[in-house]
Amino acid sequence: MNLTIIGTGFVGVVTAAVYASFGNEVIGLDIDEDKVAKLKKSKVPFYEPGLEELLKEQQQTGNLVFTTDYQEAIKNAEVIMIAVGTPSAPDGQADLRYVFASLESLAPHLAEEAIVVIKSTVPPGTLEKAREIIGQRTKVKFHLASVPEFLKEGSAVEDTLHPDRVVIGATHETVFAKLEKLHQPLKAPVVKVKPESAQMAKYAANAYLATRITFINQIADLCEKNGADIEEIVAAISPDQRIGAHYWYPGFGYGGSCFPKDVKELAAYSRSIGEGDNMFNKINDLNEDRIPRLLESFEGELDGWKDKTVAVLGLSFKPNTDDMRESPATKVIPILLSKGAKVQSYDPLANWQEFHRLENLENNHQQMKTIEDALQGAEVMMSLVEWPQIIGFDFAQAKTNQLKWFIDARNQFDPEALKKAGYHYLGLGRTS
Ligand code: UGA
Repeated sequence: MNLTIIGTGFVGVVTAAVYASFGNEVIGLDIDEDKVAKLKKSKVPFYEPGLEELLKEQQQTGNLVFTTDYQEAIKNAEVIMIAVGTPSAPDGQADLRYVFASLESLAPHLAEEAIVVIKSTVPPGTLEKAREIIGQRTKVKFHLASVPEFLKEGSAVEDTLHPDRVVIGATHETVFAKLEKLHQPLKAPVVKVKPESAQMAKYAANAYLATRITFINQIADLCEKNGADIEEIVAAISPDQRIGAHYWYPGFGYGGSCFPKDVKELAAYSRSIGEGDNMFNKINDLNEDRIPRLLESFEGELDGWKDKTVAVLGLSFKPNTDDMRESPATKVIPILLSKGAKVQSYDPLANWQEFHRLENLENNHQQMKTIEDALQGAEVMMSLVEWPQIIGFDFAQAKTNQLKWFIDARNQFDPEALKKAGYHYLGLGRTS
């Protein structure tokens, strides 16, 4: 099948490479010349395990090419997938300007019976606007569909190759049939729904997982007060099949480019249709307040952050990615600095300076190359992300007289072993 993917961000590049690997003729289109030039040389501007290899392989077979030229990319495409960004607008709703700009640009070049699929996360009702935009610019018969994306950063290639389900939102049997055929190599259950349901399902899935994380964080906070242990609670409730064992781990709140944005958008969308009193507002507030509140409570335990040297381990929002969007570190480090602490950070991949486009790091913050360097002279150490390099590190061995406090933001370490090594251990909801 001739397939064009518009947008060479995270979802676009992974989708292009995976669909090319099924034997489709895929064109990746982006208006950013610099990005396309890099992709032509198989260079991915972000880290994602397995992606660069797959990209190179598919470019060598000739199944996958990249371009900035709309006419070339659209004229023969049977299916066009839009995977451009939908950042949040100032009122919290999704800003659809890039989706609409892509529709305007592709419309004049559409082939007869082409299917335009929106993969970007958009609110229900977007396809009507899409129909209007394209309809004003072409006379050919075209179709629209919504196929939301459920892949996770850090395992995007695997998730795209082995999805739990494929959700296709369309209104015509011919469109369902063609998109089902396109997704057949995935051997995943296909859920055929109305476009509005597909769009809503994407928000529902992310908001549900964010709610689950907020819920377990709240239970962890209660454990701090009553002597129960959150890890024992997770073990006790997870075998219930209605509850299950995934997305159930406490931390410093959810981060990344999706959960925070999608929860806020769902809250704003609810308000815009007259449902101002909705739970998504509260979930968002709880998540945003979490880090300042936790740091305040730790501050009491270690008698103030002022003049303390803190080793902050893990800058990305989760392991296996260099993405720092809404990561715990981006919130923790400015608070620590504002309270007069000195920070020595470490991450296997993420780069603080690049993320903030800083010429120099802030006074009192230095990103170190190794965990040992970050711990040098520190009194407090904080493990924010469950990178294997961090959780596999021998902190008992690294214990010094000066290094007293161990903050385990993801409950990844054995409190007893660390206490035995001489640390004052602070986890989340673990009171043993
Ligand atoms: C998320 C969804 O999981 C994907 O299904 C979805 O396609 C994607 O957003 C998207 O909308 O594009 P992602 O942002 O890559 O994927 O990250 P997750 O692995 O889901 O983690 C999100 C956040 O939740 C992280 O900060 C993580 O540390 C946190 N988390 C996750 C917890 O605090 N506890 C958990 O038990 C699980």
